[in-house]
Amino acid sequence: MKRLEGKIALVTGAGAGIGLAMARVFATEGAHVYVTDVNGEAAAETVAALNAEGLAATAGTMDVSRGQDVTAIMRTVAAAHGKLDVLVNNAGLNVRGDFRHMSDADWNTIREVNLDGVVRVARDAFDLLRASGNASLINVASIMAHRGLRQLAGYSATKGAVLALSRALAVEYAPFAIRVNALAPGFVETALTERVLRNPHFHKALVDRTLMKRFGTAEDIALAALFLASDDSRYVTGTELVVDGGMTAGV
Ligand SMILES: NC(=O)c1ccc[n+]([C@@H]2O[C@H](COP(=O)([O-])OP(=O)(O)OC[C@H]3O[C@@H](n4cnc5c(N)ncnc54)[C@H](O)[C@@H]3O)[C@@H](O)[C@H]2O)c1
Repeated sequence: MKRLEGKIALVTGAGAGIGLAMARVFATEGAHVYVTDVNGEAAAETVAALNAEGLAATAGTMDVSRGQDVTAIMRTVAAAHGKLDVLVNNAGLNVRGDFRHMSDADWNTIREVNLDGVVRVARDAFDLLRASGNASLINVASIMAHRGLRQLAGYSATKGAVLALSRALAVEYAPFAIRVNALAPGFVETALTERVLRNPHFHKALVDRTLMKRFGTAEDIALAALFLASDDSRYVTGTELVVDGGMTAGV
């Protein structure tokens, strides 16, 4: 029996990187996956590839910072299935720069996607998640909620807020059979980290500090998301799953 058989899942920011890997793993495990992204073409390409393998997936253009987009996708899922079993708030970005020079516009860009987007999607999906009767909401945070790194202060602030929000939502959503957990990846080589990890000194320093002596892959994170999405984690809510190859375990 596949681990997500019969489940309807939605992943935000699933046109690339970690979200794409989640969509693939979830679909392989039997879910019908709504692959949504602000980049509608990337979402459509992902879905075409999954469908070509006989996997169930539907593409949607959704900018999590736009209320109309979120409403439209929720309506589509409601009309087609009347419920949502798994929701992953994965869409995220960063605008690098020293905090003291950060413009209001840059801060708004980071916050509107990483925090406001999570708030909006988690709120607007409530009716569909409740209709599941056994739902899992996963919010993607980051180990940067626990650690500081130059030029990442704004990003860290949003990810810390996502952790706090996830715990609070676990309390509020529990009576409706909706589990809520945060997933905190360490360093994963994707478009988001490409520029930073290209620096050989920084690259080496980070790998040296990682117990497993390598960066994560998007699939490493997707497999942890699969645990939180599936009934294997049926007694897990209000927690944070750190998936960082042991980077934050040491001093
Ligand atoms: N890569 C890492 O090392 C790492 C570490 C910790 C946490 N994370 C988190 O994991 C998540 C995925 O990151 P990634 O590394 O796969 O990034 P990525 O840049 O490879 O992919 C992010 C995807 O989100 C989409 N996106 C951006 N803005 C959006 C919006 N407003 N609405 C909808 N979609 C939007 C992009 O189009 C892209 O397809 C993010 O929340 C990120 O903060 C990543």
